Amino acid sequence: MNKLPKASFQITKKIWLNGKLTNWENANVHVLSHALHYGSGVFEGIRFYETKKGPAIFRLKEHIDRLFYSAKALQMKIPYNHTQVAEAICKTVRVNKIPAGYIRPLAFFDYGKMGLNPTGATVSLAIACWPWGSYLGGKPIRVKTSKLIRLHPDSVVADAKVCGHYINSILASLEVKKAKFDEALFLDYRGFVAEGPGENIFFLKKGVLQTPRLGSILAGITRDAIIQIAADLGVKTREGNYKLRDLYSADEAFFTGTAAEVQPIGSLDSRKIKNGKAGELTTKLREIFLAAVAGEAPKYQKWLTVVGS
Ligand SMILES: Cc1ncc(COP(=O)(O)O)c(C=O)c1O
Repeated sequence: MNKLPKASFQITKKIWLNGKLTNWENANVHVLSHALHYGSGVFEGIRFYETKKGPAIFRLKEHIDRLFYSAKALQMKIPYNHTQVAEAICKTVRVNKIPAGYIRPLAFFDYGKMGLNPTGATVSLAIACWPWGSYLGGKPIRVKTSKLIRLHPDSVVADAKVCGHYINSILASLEVKKAKFDEALFLDYRGFVAEGPGENIFFLKKGVLQTPRLGSILAGITRDAIIQIAADLGVKTREGNYKLRDLYSADEAFFTGTAAEVQPIGSLDSRKIKNGKAGELTTKLREIFLAAVAGEAPKYQKWLTVVGS
């Protein structure tokens, strides 16, 4: 297999691949890997943060559980158990000596089979991590509803993080970036608000925090954290089916996600949400979330796994 030269886009030193920590330039796959052709892989996006106890991973257990759930959707057997994957993730963060960033575990059907049915292909697992700052910047962003709808839940396992599903997200991102917006919003096949290409959405109206119900969206781990933080503030979240007009007339709106964290939405389809500024509850939730991930909120310490030295 070709060895890549060290390049300026090298973002990490060591990548865990099938049980071994390899140098970045050696973490390669064969061009006849099944996943490269058909998107038959599953992945997670996890963040780790700088804390007083060193780098700590946010909700590691939930991310690993979701990785295995996604693999099951593809009838893929990851050749490691949950504990081994957790240890491999912590080890990858430790050896790279990065204080804070993003972790990408990816399990995929590798070589050995070229037909659509992947049965018989080897399953590989790669884990990489790299430094990564804010994804959408934290200041109120301009969102546009995509012309594409979210994947139909009867066509795919919509709440699994399957690589191939992300073509839907990529197309919507390309569409709205071309129109000079910051991020896309999907409606589902019924015309109800679904989610962003890599984020869940919340809005506040008349004091009620609301978010699309599960069904055709990813069950975001940040979404769940925000529902818990809001509940601890005495704010109940209503999960329902919403139309765009509910969002246009909202008092506040924000995205949540591992990459986006808590991201205020300033406008949707060029209509300002209220005054276009980050709302009071959004700001409060964002502050508590950022304190939680930094290990500064004792109540949410349970969400952190310190990687150790
Ligand atoms: C389509 C989609 N929706 C929502 C989310 C947010 O999920 P989480 O908070 O678990 O990162 C993500 C990111 O993983 C995603 O890809």
